[in-house]
Amino acid sequence: MKIFNSLKAVGLMVAGCLFLAACENPPPEAVQRGYRGVGQELLYNPDALSEAIANNQVPAPQPPIPAGGPKAGDIYENVEVLGDLSVGEFTRLMVAITEWVSPEEGCNYCHVDEGFQYDTKYTKKVARVMIAMTQKANVAWGDHVGGAGVTCYTCHRGQNIPEYVWATDPGRPHPPGVMTAGQNIASVNAAYSSLPNDSFSLYLEGDEEKAKDLPWRVAGRTALPNGNAANVKETEWIYSLMMHFSDSLGVNCTHCHNTRAFYDWEQSSPERVRAWHGIRMVREMNNDYINPTTDWLPDHRKGPLGDPLKVNCATCHQGAYQPLLGANMVNDYPNLAKYTVAAPTTDVGEEAEAAAESEENTEGMTAGN
Ligand code: HEC
Ligand code: HEC
Ligand code: HEC
Ligand code: HEC
Repeated sequence: MKIFNSLKAVGLMVAGCLFLAACENPPPEAVQRGYRGVGQELLYNPDALSEAIANNQVPAPQPPIPAGGPKAGDIYENVEVLGDLSVGEFTRLMVAITEWVSPEEGCNYCHVDEGFQYDTKYTKKVARVMIAMTQKANVAWGDHVGGAGVTCYTCHRGQNIPEYVWATDPGRPHPPGVMTAGQNIASVNAAYSSLPNDSFSLYLEGDEEKAKDLPWRVAGRTALPNGNAANVKETEWIYSLMMHFSDSLGVNCTHCHNTRAFYDWEQSSPERVRAWHGIRMVREMNNDYINPTTDWLPDHRKGPLGDPLKVNCATCHQGAYQPLLGANMVNDYPNLAKYTVAAPTTDVGEEAEAAAESEENTEGMTAGN
């Protein structure tokens, strides 16, 4: 009997300790995303939060450079996108780019010993496109990145290729005649759900005409199933994309939607509008900047079907609903938040040549006058 009693006491003590241990873990934090009572709430595990904070630190900026001095365009031989910077600002940016993209390899990840002016390495050519792409995002996509802006670090985080990129995914081989629609493949693209594994090639690239015809609006607007032209398969494509949204931002659907009416913009949170602009920004990055590099990228930088590695929501967000937890990225690098040549287009090389030419022409005219 005594033994039983002492065993009981030990049992109670163990249970008590477990209970206390549980109490030591702080409870999840609830953040309200919509009107009270609509259930638009997100729960955050404090452990996961402190991990996120540790993973999203921004490196200290390079020391500022005194203004003035000759322009890079006048001193250097082959500058197409950064010509307007002073030599000091230019060098400061090169040092920062090295820290963001190739800290291990240094300047020669893009440059060759023969001279900084040569475009021998494809990485230098990609970097030029990337500079133009980053400037475009900050100048023209304020509706999405406004308030914080982006630099190379937002995506690269000290790596040659950002951790989260995508290329067209053919899925698993399957017998002829079987339409799998890329489903039931454990794929990170669909956040490991059974939904189609590659909604990106559908929604995150391709021209506007193609985009118009895609299944975007799929939810029924009426209680009874009449008047809704979308079928289940179409719904699964956007659902897959939505899984990616949630996964990349570390949120659930209620960050953007009131789930009683997924379709209704009036009942959605403003974040959904941000996301709407985000879709378009990402599509432009892939269409106008990255895809045109396909011809001269080495094979090892391409996906299984030969297309380049591209941007999706995770490329910048990396699990945080504001990349790098909302840190302002452009205050210290204003040259990445404006065009340092005429507005760049796809072929920044040609564009810069044209800009240089027209500048010469204008000079000529002034001289003639
Ligand atoms: C990730 C690629 C990358 C890295 C790393 C890099 N650069 Fe550059 N560098 C470029 C690009 C792109 C240009 C051309 C910019 C333009 O067209 O406006 C350039 C141009 C230059 C030029 C002008 C050369 C000329 O005469 O045209 C100099 C000088 C230079 N870089 C120095 C450096 C130094 C020093 C480092 C290391 C601290 C460095 N770069 C690291 C991509 C890089
Ligand atoms: C929106 C995300 C994003 C931003 C911002 C970004 N990059 Fe990239 N970067 C990518 C993706 C995606 C790739 C892979 C595509 C490719 O290889 O062309 C890439 C590839 C590269 C590569 C090729 C590396 C290799 O080993 O093949 C270089 C160099 C590079 N980026 C430099 C830069 C520089 C410099 C900046 C800032 C001016 C920058 N990137 C900003 C997404 C980004
Ligand atoms: C980051 C914001 C965001 C998150 C998170 C999000 N969505 Fe969406 N959702 C959107 C946007 C933006 C659209 C509209 C796309 C368009 O029509 O241009 C949309 C559209 C939809 C639609 C189509 C609505 C219609 O008009 O038919 C459905 C259904 C949907 N989302 C479901 C979900 C589900 C389920 C989740 C969670 C797994 C989710 N969404 C998470 C932003 C989000
Ligand atoms: C080029 C980098 C980049 C890419 C790619 C990107 N975003 Fe963003 N996103 C940002 C930045 C920067 C902000 C602004 C953060 C701030 O205001 O502090 C932001 C903000 C948001 C917000 C508002 C978050 C909040 O709660 O304040 C949503 C929602 C969002 N993005 C969704 C998306 C979706 C969905 C995609 C993919 C279609 C996407 N983003 C792709 C950089 C990016």
